Amino acid sequence: MYPRVVINLSRFETNVKLVKNHLDKIGIGIFGVSKVFCADSNLVHIFVKNNLDGIADSRIQNLKKMQNLPLKKVLLRIPMHSEIADTVKYADISLNSEISTLELLSIEALRQNKTHGVIIMLDLGDLREGYFDENDFFEAMDRAIAFEGIEVLGIGTNLTCFGAVIPKFNHMAKLIEMKHKIQSRYGISLKYISAGNSSSYYLTEQGRLPDEVNNLRIGEIFAVGRETSFGRKVEGAEEDVFVLEAEIIELKKKPSVPIGEQGIDAFGQKPVYTDKGIMSRAICAVGRQDVDIASLMPFDEKIEIIGSSSDHVILDVTQSGTKYKVGDIVKFHLKYGGILSVMTSEYVEKVYIE
Ligand SMILES: Cc1ncc(COP(=O)(O)O)c(C=O)c1O
Repeated sequence: MYPRVVINLSRFETNVKLVKNHLDKIGIGIFGVSKVFCADSNLVHIFVKNNLDGIADSRIQNLKKMQNLPLKKVLLRIPMHSEIADTVKYADISLNSEISTLELLSIEALRQNKTHGVIIMLDLGDLREGYFDENDFFEAMDRAIAFEGIEVLGIGTNLTCFGAVIPKFNHMAKLIEMKHKIQSRYGISLKYISAGNSSSYYLTEQGRLPDEVNNLRIGEIFAVGRETSFGRKVEGAEEDVFVLEAEIIELKKKPSVPIGEQGIDAFGQKPVYTDKGIMSRAICAVGRQDVDIASLMPFDEKIEIIGSSSDHVILDVTQSGTKYKVGDIVKFHLKYGGILSVMTSEYVEKVYIE
């Protein structure tokens, strides 16, 4: 059944092993991030097989699916007040940045007779989650340490995801400075100094991550074989872990510019088309309900994606050396957003190869 995403398990494992071997050598543990592939069990199994330090996901539903796996579960997104009970039930650790949430976690953990681990997040400039102000941070730490039922296991930061800020040595130095301040203020040693995601990886390659950093939360490198500060392929890593295949349902020569007075399209946009004369236009049976079109890159580099609607992608195949026909399958590389969307769409079949 098409559209389908072909998931290459051995490529994924190559990436997991490569990153793990490298980070093991410098004392950095990994929380394997499963959200981009909706905690697909075949892929998560590879995290387990390779003995990562934990599985991290932003969705409690995914952690729930994985409750029987023998790895620590980490809730990546700051918990909602409305999911506190499930957070304590299904996550061993959560990332946090609000005193009110820490308090609810404490009450719930006592109720469930558990100790829930927390990592307190620092915003070092990317401007998504975390304490931006140091006084606020220490106010939260004072409270978190006093709360029963929760244990402050570490501090962390997240960069690049929102503000596209590239992690630098100074960000890492700030984390370490905070670690030392915590040690002297509370006399506790932190288990995790969690220095970010796939965008921090390049610092490990350059030997510029301070020794005291001991954890990264990695998803994208495993899924696409690239680090995310510069989009550079990680040496030895595999791309095309996920490949989208879609079927051509119409192939006709038509003009390149719509004919008639133009209003707005189904998504409220007014598209602009360049007049390239008559072109060979292939319609594939895949659309925005299946995939983030901006994340698609045809394997056939002579194909141009000229537009899409909910159920269709329209391709200009005029310049291609391949003589396409109706029923043919077109393959696409997927960027991160493409993987996220095809794995989330129930209309895209998932096929696994070794
Ligand atoms: C808090 C947090 N940490 C880590 C990650 C993993 O990021 P990446 O997939 O770029 O490695 C994400 C995003 O998925 C995240 O939101």
